[in-house]
Amino acid sequence: MNEQIEEQNEEFGMAYLDSCDRPTLLLIHGFPLSSAMWELQIEDLGDMVRVVAPDLRGHGRSGDTPPPYSVTMFADDCADLLDYLAIPGPVIVGGLSMGGYVAFEFYRRYPERVAGLILAATRAGADTPEGKAGRDKMAQMAREEGVEAVAAAMLPKLLAPITYKEQTDVVEFVQEMMEDTSLAGVLGALAAMKERPDSTPTLAEIDVPTLIIHGAEDQLIPVIEAQAMHKAIAGSQLVVLPDAGHMPNLEQPDEFADAVADFLEQFLEEEE
Ligand code: MLT
Repeated sequence: MNEQIEEQNEEFGMAYLDSCDRPTLLLIHGFPLSSAMWELQIEDLGDMVRVVAPDLRGHGRSGDTPPPYSVTMFADDCADLLDYLAIPGPVIVGGLSMGGYVAFEFYRRYPERVAGLILAATRAGADTPEGKAGRDKMAQMAREEGVEAVAAAMLPKLLAPITYKEQTDVVEFVQEMMEDTSLAGVLGALAAMKERPDSTPTLAEIDVPTLIIHGAEDQLIPVIEAQAMHKAIAGSQLVVLPDAGHMPNLEQPDEFADAVADFLEQFLEEEE
C-alpha cells in the first residue's frame, strides 16, 4: 500500500483514502461498496496523481444518515470533501456504476471543478419502471433479511464467470465489502439510484476528456451502454476489458490501471 495514503480524519465526518499532492483523481465507488474497492488503483496510480476515494454516506467507514439519499447528496458530499482537503479543482472525476451516476451529477452541479471524467461500468439512462420495481424489492429484502441477503443476491451478478473460477480472493473481497455497508446505506443508495435523473441529455454537453471503461462480460450493465455513451460524448475514449464483469478495476486491475494511466498522461502534461 502506498505510504502516502492518509486514513480517515476524525474531524471530518466522511472517511476517505488520499494519496498525496499531485493532480487529483476523485474515485467514487459503486453500490453497495466502499473506497476499499480502489486500493489497487491507489497503489498503481498514486505516484502519478493524488487519488481521493471517499466512502459515500452509509458505506465503508463513513457514518450514515437516515435514508433516503440522492445522487445530489452524494455529489455534494464529494464536493465538501474536496473543499475540506482544500482542492478547489478542477479534478478528474471517476466513478464506477453508482459512482458514475454520482459523477454525472457532480459534473452537472460543479462543471468548473471537473477536468476530466472516467466512467467505469456505468450507464447514462435512468431506471426503467422494472428497474425501479427491482430497487423496491431489494429494499424490502434488506429490511426483512438484512444487508447480507442483498450481498448474496448481488454477488453472482457482479463478476465475470472466469473471475468466480480463478480469483476467489476477489469474490470474497467484494462480498465482505458489500456486507460492511450499513442498512441505512443500502436503503439510502437504492433510493438515490431509483430516483436519479436521466443523464443521457448530459452526454452531449460533456466537454472534458472522458474515458469510458467497461467489462466485456458485465452482467449488470451490458457493454452496449458504454458504446452508446462513447457515441454520445464527443471525443471520448472507450476501453472494453475482456474477462471482466461489473468490477473491471478488481477483475483486471493491470489492464484497468494501464487504460487510466494512459488517459491521465494528458493532465500531467498540462501541469508541467
Ligand atoms: C452498482 O454497481 O453501483 C449498482 O449495482 C448499479 C445499479 O444497480 O444501477
